[in-house]
Amino acid sequence: MRPSDRLGRLPGYPLADLPARKRELIAKGVDVIDLGAGDADYPPPAEVIEALRRAAGETALSKYGFQQGNPEFRRAAVAWMQRRFGLTFDPTTEILPLIGSKEGLSHLPLAVLNPGDLAVVPEPGYQAYLGGTVLAGGTPVIYPLTPRTRYLVELEELGEETLRRIRLVYLNYPNNPTAAIAPREYLERTVALCRRRDIVLAYDNPYCDLTFDGYRAPSIFEIDGAREVAVEFFSLSKSFSMTGWRLGWAAAERSLITALTRVKSYVDTGPWLAVQQAGAYALDHADRLMAPNVAELSRRRDAGVGALREAGFACESPSATMYLWVPLPAEIASAEFGRRALEQQGVVVLPGSAFGAGGEGFFRIALTVGPDRLREGVRRLGQILRSSRAA
Ligand SMILES: Cc1ncc(COP(=O)(O)O)c(C=O)c1O
Repeated sequence: MRPSDRLGRLPGYPLADLPARKRELIAKGVDVIDLGAGDADYPPPAEVIEALRRAAGETALSKYGFQQGNPEFRRAAVAWMQRRFGLTFDPTTEILPLIGSKEGLSHLPLAVLNPGDLAVVPEPGYQAYLGGTVLAGGTPVIYPLTPRTRYLVELEELGEETLRRIRLVYLNYPNNPTAAIAPREYLERTVALCRRRDIVLAYDNPYCDLTFDGYRAPSIFEIDGAREVAVEFFSLSKSFSMTGWRLGWAAAERSLITALTRVKSYVDTGPWLAVQQAGAYALDHADRLMAPNVAELSRRRDAGVGALREAGFACESPSATMYLWVPLPAEIASAEFGRRALEQQGVVVLPGSAFGAGGEGFFRIALTVGPDRLREGVRRLGQILRSSRAA
């Protein structure tokens, strides 16, 4: 089989080989600590599991959901956005249930790009932005996220020639993998630029509720004028530890939602209606159900940051997400560090380069395990640092 040219333009998916290698090591008796994928070890809330159990018994919820999906989920999503951000959305025309937000993020370019159109893809960043753009025949404009701009995408830097051709920009704050957050002033000028230039702003917001120390992450729609240009993606994956359930939604004004709905109606039939029913329960009780997870992540963050500093890494304490983005000394390439972490120490971390060349010089720790296990994992990583320095 000869794969398509489009497929050939995509790099290998960074997490693809990890599960197999991890299984091999475990089979050999290695005590593997997996700080790789953003998938915490704690379960979904028991009440949400119970809601799914009930919903699974309802025959009507075992039928095709189509894009309309479960009206309960649409209701709960807009009610949550009202409570959480003070925003009003129409549940039938301005919301679209997604099979996880990744699905919507990667299908969006099919709805808004013509072949050759430019889309701004932050790097390091979530792979669905690049994948969706390339598979839709668009041309990615890679923007490196670095400490220089506090990991913000400064669109003006791209220059007039490029700016004129951009149709889509992906932004993700609180950010994976850098854990950066976006100041309001930044969001205001970015929305203003997108309005001036007629650029669709895809605001990927799955970590908006994983915030610490009183920080509150906004919706892009809190910014004046955002409704003219933005589509926002939300997910139940991280807030409720429901990654495998595959449930999220997009919110935008009607024409954007209609376009994405049309794409999806040709390629999928929406999330399982029973999962949507349970998702509605989760959103209706979000504050109470999320609180223990957020408190636990905050403990893990403190344990991880403390252990990293003790082990000789320079690491800032982030105010959101479930990640630590850790700089490496210049003499250690991130892929080599990730390889040694796994093969010599039995610790899975993601090298920055796995998120694109722009991530070189860093590695990412996901706060997937409890504080003690995290400290042990970081202690092992410290040994690699010491042996590299000694060499
Ligand atoms: C930035 C970002 N966006 C989207 C997603 C996808 O989440 P979902 O499980 O809703 O597809 C992830 C998952 O890791 C992510 O990190």
